[in-house]
Amino acid sequence: MSLLLRYMHLQDIPDVMAIEHRSFTPPWSARSYAYEVSQSTYSHMVVLEQTAPLAPAVNPIRRAWSRLMHHPTHGQTLVAYGGLWFINGEGHISTIASHPDLRRSGFGELVFAAMIHRSIVLGAQYMVLEVRVSNLGAQALYRKYGFDIHGVKPNYYQQNHEDAYDMRRPLASDPAYVRDFHVRYRALLAAHGVNDQYSAGRPEPE
Ligand SMILES: CC(C)(COP(=O)(O)OP(=O)(O)OC[C@H]1O[C@@H](n2cnc3c(N)ncnc32)[C@H](O)[C@@H]1OP(=O)(O)O)[C@@H](O)C(=O)NCCC(=O)NCCS
Repeated sequence: MSLLLRYMHLQDIPDVMAIEHRSFTPPWSARSYAYEVSQSTYSHMVVLEQTAPLAPAVNPIRRAWSRLMHHPTHGQTLVAYGGLWFINGEGHISTIASHPDLRRSGFGELVFAAMIHRSIVLGAQYMVLEVRVSNLGAQALYRKYGFDIHGVKPNYYQQNHEDAYDMRRPLASDPAYVRDFHVRYRALLAAHGVNDQYSAGRPEPE
């Protein structure tokens, strides 16, 4: 099994939407994702893809036939995704989710850390995000990377009038954090065997 971090493409949207609908109320629309991926100049959308060998064909004749017909021997699964807006020196996490059946496997953290790295590469002064006051799991992830509560946005979520915490992390003004983050990020990628084609790269035109 191997893991790949890469920019989100339009073709990923059906898989993203399957996770989105199980993760958020209300979900973003497929059209919003299409805009973020193909039109927004601020957006840096990321996916984490897991590649696993498909079950080998038991029948040797079928196996030979598959090889002859160039049928794929590996299947890709989208296991997490995230959105980053980079505007005027601010890295803003717009969304993040991991596959509901694969939570607590480190996938959300990989995507989150990749967006921090992307923000550093882009030259962000600081990062910001909003999170439901009830979403303790996500807050634990953000605190793990040094995000603190900067303020409360009352009634931020219209569907149930829940407040949001405005969480932030200075980057450029804290070179020690950035230095430590680089070491930590390299170790994280190595521990999960991740190929990162996202965080240091340039957006590819759709
Ligand atoms: C938030 C979310 C992306 C976390 O993804 P994940 O793949 O489950 O998280 P990871 O396995 O990478 O966990 C990384 C860290 O996050 C924290 N964490 C994640 N889920 C947690 C939970 N349910 N309870 C406590 N801590 C949690 C822990 O600090 C964890 O580190 P640890 O394993 O060393 O304890 C995932 O729960 C999700 O998709 N939730 C629904 C969508 C959502 O709420 N997005 C956030 C919107 S602001």
